[in-house]
Amino acid sequence: MTQQTTSSRPDLVIRTIPFDLATALRRNGAFDLHWFDDKGISYLAIGYSFALEYAERFINLADTVLPRFIKDEALRRREGAFNRQEANHAKYHRVLNDLTGSGSPTAEQYNPRVYDFFYADYKTFREPLMKRLFEPKNQHELFAAVNETIFRRAAFETVTCLTGLTYFDYFFDAGRLSQTLSATRTPAVLYLFGYHLAEELEHCATAFEVYDEIFHEPVWTAQSLELAFGNPARSIEREVESAAFFAARRRGDDLSLSDLHDNEFAAKQRETQASTLAPGFHPAHGAVAEQKDYFIAKWEREWEPLLREKVLAQIS
Ligand SMILES: [Fe+2]
Ligand SMILES: [Fe+2]
Repeated sequence: MTQQTTSSRPDLVIRTIPFDLATALRRNGAFDLHWFDDKGISYLAIGYSFALEYAERFINLADTVLPRFIKDEALRRREGAFNRQEANHAKYHRVLNDLTGSGSPTAEQYNPRVYDFFYADYKTFREPLMKRLFEPKNQHELFAAVNETIFRRAAFETVTCLTGLTYFDYFFDAGRLSQTLSATRTPAVLYLFGYHLAEELEHCATAFEVYDEIFHEPVWTAQSLELAFGNPARSIEREVESAAFFAARRRGDDLSLSDLHDNEFAAKQRETQASTLAPGFHPAHGAVAEQKDYFIAKWEREWEPLLREKVLAQIS
């Protein structure tokens, strides 16, 4: 079996997962949330899975408005590919999320799948912004809503980019994959995040390029960093934790904040963030751009085929 790809541009590839994800996650039984030897890392992944699906559906919805503000033809095409990648990510994460027994999401006006643990966030932060984007009172309000939406998307893509760098570094690089595999009960979870984060590394710069083209100013300044990362109530981390705690309680697991914060992956993530994120940060420039290309190439040539083989061996 080969991984199917269709390319809209050499650097943005719309991948598909080359096996039945639900079957691979269940491994002939029920999906076990303890997919990895470390409880905190297991639940962080579950939390990310929910937070990613939730956010990616807003990205796709916003994209019904945003392309008309992009004049550059090539960038508009890249924006389209970016959105197709995100639509696939939400679709695949839904498969995992549905297997966790964490309840049924409800369809709301601006998101077809809002889980109970995101409902307050939806009503407080997401719905008002989407309302201004889709039903603006005037042009000024529309432009402000476009600015906020594109800024928040770039902030989200900053997090997925740094998470991708951390993920491949911690679980895969420098010969660590064999150790990772021995601590992994369900390699399909590793595969899902590997596939997803490789595409995040590919497209995070597109979110910045769209911001650059429309607003002609850097996404990250001291002030905007404080705005996005200095308010825990609005952070992506908060969404990840809400989902992780909800899933753990459903399973009857005692999960603490320290489990989520004090594991090795979380520590590595903080390290990556501290060494990378500064005013002027842009994922198309500097050392980050090189690291991204290195990890994407390793995923394609080495880690993806190996992991695919492991998954197929479990379900065949
Ligand atoms: Fe994504
Ligand atoms: Fe993304």
